[in-house]
Amino acid sequence: MQHIGPFHVMSLLEQAKQMEAQGQSVIHMEIGEPDFPTPDAIIRAGMQALQQGQTRYTASKGLPELRQAIADYYAQRYQVNIDSARIIVTPGASGALQLALGALIGRDDEVLLADPTYPCNRHLISLVEGTPVAITTSPENGFQPSAAQIAAHWTDRTRAVMLATPANPTGSTVPRQSMQAIAELVAQRQGTLIVDEIYQGLVYEGEDYSALAVSDDCLVINSFSKFFQMTGWRLGWLIAPPDLVEPIERIAMNAFLAAPTLAQHAALAAFRPETLQLLDARRDVLRQRRDYLLHALRDMGFAIPVTPQGAFYIYADCSAVCNDSRQFAQDLLHSQQLAVTPGLDFGNNQPDRFIRFAYTAEIPVLEQAMHRLRQFLQR
Ligand SMILES: Cc1ncc(COP(=O)(O)O)c(C=O)c1O
Repeated sequence: MQHIGPFHVMSLLEQAKQMEAQGQSVIHMEIGEPDFPTPDAIIRAGMQALQQGQTRYTASKGLPELRQAIADYYAQRYQVNIDSARIIVTPGASGALQLALGALIGRDDEVLLADPTYPCNRHLISLVEGTPVAITTSPENGFQPSAAQIAAHWTDRTRAVMLATPANPTGSTVPRQSMQAIAELVAQRQGTLIVDEIYQGLVYEGEDYSALAVSDDCLVINSFSKFFQMTGWRLGWLIAPPDLVEPIERIAMNAFLAAPTLAQHAALAAFRPETLQLLDARRDVLRQRRDYLLHALRDMGFAIPVTPQGAFYIYADCSAVCNDSRQFAQDLLHSQQLAVTPGLDFGNNQPDRFIRFAYTAEIPVLEQAMHRLRQFLQR
């Protein structure tokens, strides 16, 4: 338990909620959650499922028709053919990550991952008694580990490499060529490549592809939370190499029996052409917000060394305006009611220097947020 840290942003959120309870109007740019409502077609499918009495467990791997719909989605959108037998529906990407690590990692096995990264990954590795090994990434590599860095960190205890593309907190992507080089290296060393594609579909520049198009051997994590805007429904999936499906299913049976039935029925409507069209249009709205915010932040003296190509975050270097991002986030919240996430949550790679801004609010709200930030800097 000593290796399982809290998610610091939650304490900031708690403070923000208290301020709101006292009548203050807080602008939230700290939480990684789309502000759009779940598309109507998905909600209606969920309501219909409830009316039809779909309230019992499904099979542990999920509804066969949902697993097939996911396979069809990969074929149509990403030109990869996956047997639906390799797809396991999970309670969010969080559930998928736990299953993948549970099946692959044993005591003292090392898992390589980027720093900065999504904080839960290193804590989940510790939960299965593995050892997270951080690779300090740099803006020159888009805050993503290179094949050479992975090779340099590999030891005889290394079992897996975890990547995310687009990534949290940086929004950076792994180009296909780098993915190819990394996949080849991991295969040579007989490890497993785990690729978290939770922000797939939210790519504004560069290629939106799946690592499965590069290597059939990797283990892919995905979710209905972000592109499909279903965070609270708690639904995700993983796609595993055939030999890992049975062990993963065994853990799923024991850990959660099955993913939420209601959410699975609702998600069947997520792949309808009209739903995908709506979600693509929302992606374009997110891109406009990103462009607005990039300009506004750079204008105020924040350096953004890597222009985020996806997700809905900007990881900004605030060293020109402060030397302690944690204190900065605290002061900003209390004096301007603007909540942002300090780098602290994402690792040890100069966390004092960075702040993550989530653009999960409409542009007029972001304009108000930038106004508050400007006032704070002028104090
Ligand atoms: C990179 C990454 N992976 C996984 C998750 C977990 O998402 P969920 O369990 O809602 O699918 C998140 C959530 O923010 C994330 O940013």
